[in-house]
Order: sequence, then structure tokens, then C-alpha cells
Amino acid sequence: MKRLAILGSTGSIGQSTLSIVESYPDRFSVATLAAGRNIDSAFEQTLRWHPRLVSLATEELASELASRLRAAGITDTEVLWGSGGSVACATHPDVNFVVSAIVGVAGLEATHAAILAGKPIGLANKECMVAAGEILTRTARAGNVPLLPIDSEHNAIHQCMRVGVAAEVKQIWLTASGGPFRRLPLADFDCITPEQALKHPTWVMGRRITIDSATMLNKGLEVIEACRLFDLPPSQVRVTVHPQSTVHSLVEYVDGSILAQISVTDMRLPILYALAYPERPASNLTFNLAALSQLDFEQPDFARFPCLRLAYEAAQKGGEHPIALNAADEVAVEAFLDRRIPFNGIPRTIEEVLERTPTSHPETIAGVLAADSQARERAREAVQQAATRV
Ligand SMILES: NC(=O)c1ccc[n+]([C@@H]2O[C@H](COP(=O)([O-])OP(=O)(O)OC[C@H]3O[C@@H](n4cnc5c(N)ncnc54)[C@H](OP(=O)(O)O)[C@@H]3O)[C@@H](O)[C@H]2O)c1
Repeated sequence: MKRLAILGSTGSIGQSTLSIVESYPDRFSVATLAAGRNIDSAFEQTLRWHPRLVSLATEELASELASRLRAAGITDTEVLWGSGGSVACATHPDVNFVVSAIVGVAGLEATHAAILAGKPIGLANKECMVAAGEILTRTARAGNVPLLPIDSEHNAIHQCMRVGVAAEVKQIWLTASGGPFRRLPLADFDCITPEQALKHPTWVMGRRITIDSATMLNKGLEVIEACRLFDLPPSQVRVTVHPQSTVHSLVEYVDGSILAQISVTDMRLPILYALAYPERPASNLTFNLAALSQLDFEQPDFARFPCLRLAYEAAQKGGEHPIALNAADEVAVEAFLDRRIPFNGIPRTIEEVLERTPTSHPETIAGVLAADSQARERAREAVQQAATRV
């Protein structure tokens, strides 16, 4: 029985994870839940799953949840808050598998603490891999802690790599849907609204990752995540635009063979794979091969999607650059969703922040978080200046 800590339980990945637990009660159970601000959903989840611990983002929310649970007769779930609460959920002695699905670097301390505590990780939170991947993978290797990717592309690569050895890999190909603006004339990019950008053609996901898919920064973060997870240089991690989102990624071996993973566009499948690894339980997530009429693959357009270029440059430089890339993007996406900057303001903000980023290499989680805050501050300044110009 895998007893799970679900970090980010109220989010899109968190809810899909709970639906897998629901479908496989003999394999998985819920030990702890960590969420942010969605108190209603955290309350419902606690009533349903009776975790040992539940954590919310702030003390105020936690105390409101505790009184609601008391009123509902639930007295055996401890309610915590903040990053300390997420860390406690991730490292609780009853937990023997952690799903890391908090969005952004808010999930970093808990993911790191879980690895230090020797808990196998199902990793959805790509931002923590981008910001601190070198530290996380080093710690995981030292403690022999499995890091199982949930991100569908990395999950596909993990599956395709099971048939070969690392030295036989020539390069890997991450597929990208290309987002909703793959064919939009470049002149119209400044008029893109948050509503248009939030309509992803193939996946239903959280708000930040959906906007990141529209700018293709998401693919850039995935390139960096792949470098760290599979120990490859950026030159061996390629991107191909595949609008059908049917092939989730590919591994090209030195003999010329290319292996691809194909499945339904449903995150429950990579989640199930990570939770059950190395087994493959039967599921009803079947793919209808007969309905497959076409598979297209195109070169990504770096002029249309400057975020992808910026991500490759940051991957090449390493150190503080990937940290700043992620932090600046988070600030810029929020500003775009609040209509303070246009769509093209997202790459402009990131580029300005990267130009002002020092070439240091933080060696600790505290150092990463300090670099992250500095980059956020620079991004807020850049957003402020851009808003004044508008
Ligand atoms: N969705 C996908 O299909 C998908 C695919 C691949 C990778 N990912 C990655 O998985 C991660 C989660 O994505 P998502 O789409 O599930 O995002 P989401 O729907 O926005 O959910 C984010 C989760 O993080 C929680 N959270 C936010 N701030 C927090 C804090 N300070 N402390 C504790 N919890 C906090 C949220 O809680 P509240 O809602 O309670 O505020 C929510 O549970 C991201 O890193 C994303 O890149 C997602």
C-alpha cells in the first residue's frame, strides 16, 4: 500500500491524483494533504479522505478549517499552515510516497524535505526542478530516492528509457502542442487577452501552466527539467511541435531507433504510472488507435515564441538563470492575467530580468529561494515600468 502525501491536493494534478486513489483503493491511500487557499476544497477532501495532517497556506485559513472540521465532528486530523505545514505533510512518518504538485517554488522546501527524508517522489512541480534541480537530483541520488516524473513529457521519456541505457541515448524529443497561438499572425500577439490564452487546445490545467503553454515557456521549463532529471545537456534535449498531443515525447537512440510513448491526453495516466512504478496496473485509460488519422511534427518557431529561446539560454548558463527565468515568468504571468502587461510583455519582462541576473550558482535551498526573491523583485520593477509605459 502506498500511503500518499499529496502536496497541492486542491489543484488540477492533486485532484487527478485523488481520482486515481479512488480507483485503486487496494494500492493507494491518503496520509496527508497540503493545499494553498482553497479552503472549501480542502474541507471536502478532509471529510472524504481523513488524512493525518492537512495544511493550508496561512495560519488564518488553517484556523478557519480547523473550526469547520471540529463542527463537522472531525477531530483526528491535525491542521497546519505555511511551508512548515507542507514540509510536515511531506515528511510524516506514515507517508511512503509524495506527490509534489504545488505550483511554483512554494513547493520547493517540502519537496526537498521529502527527498531528505527518503520518500519516493512523484514529481509534477516542474518549477522546483527548474529552480533547484541540481540540488534535488544530487540529494536524491545520494539517498537513492526515486524521482518519478508526472509531467507527461518526462513521464513518456522515463517510459521510453526503460528499454535502453543512458549511454545509448542520442537525444530526447519533448513534444509541444504549440498552444492556441501557433498560427496567429505575429502582429496580433499584443492583442491576445487572458481569456484567449487560457484556452489550451488539448489539455485542461492550472492557470499558470496554461499561460506558460501559450508562450511556450512551459516547454522551456520542461527542457530544463529534462536536463536535470535525465542528466543531459540542453543540446540533447530537443523540442518538436506536435499539435495532436498524442505522442507525449520520444527518445532517439544512437542506432537510429526512435521510441515514442502514445496515450490518451489525460494526466491520470502519468500519475498512475508514477504511483505504481515499477508495476503497470490495468486501467480504463485506453487509447483508440483506430481514431488516429494524423501525426504532425514541426520545428518550433523561436521568433514567435521567444520564451523558448530564453529558456534554452538560461539552461545553458545554469546557476541563477533558470531560477530567474521561472521567478520572472511567474510574476509576468500574474501581471498579464491582471491585464497590467500585454501577452508580449511576458517574454520582455523575463528577458529584462535575465539581463540583470548575476552568474552565481546557489548551492543551498535557502540560496535558491533568496535568488528567487531577488528575481521576483526585478520582475516587479520591470512590470511596473512596462505598465507606466502603457
Ligand atoms: N495540470 C497539469 O496537467 C500539469 C501537467 C504537468 C505538470 N504540471 C505541474 O504541476 C504543478 C501543479 O499544476 P496544476 O495544474 O495542478 O496547478 P493548479 O491547478 O494551479 O494547482 C496548484 C496547487 O498548488 C497549491 N498551492 C499554491 N500555492 C501554495 C502554497 N503556498 N502552499 C501550498 N499549496 C499551494 C494550490 O492550492 P489552492 O488551490 O488551495 O490555492 C493547488 O493545490 C505545476 O508545477 C505544473 O507545472 C501540471
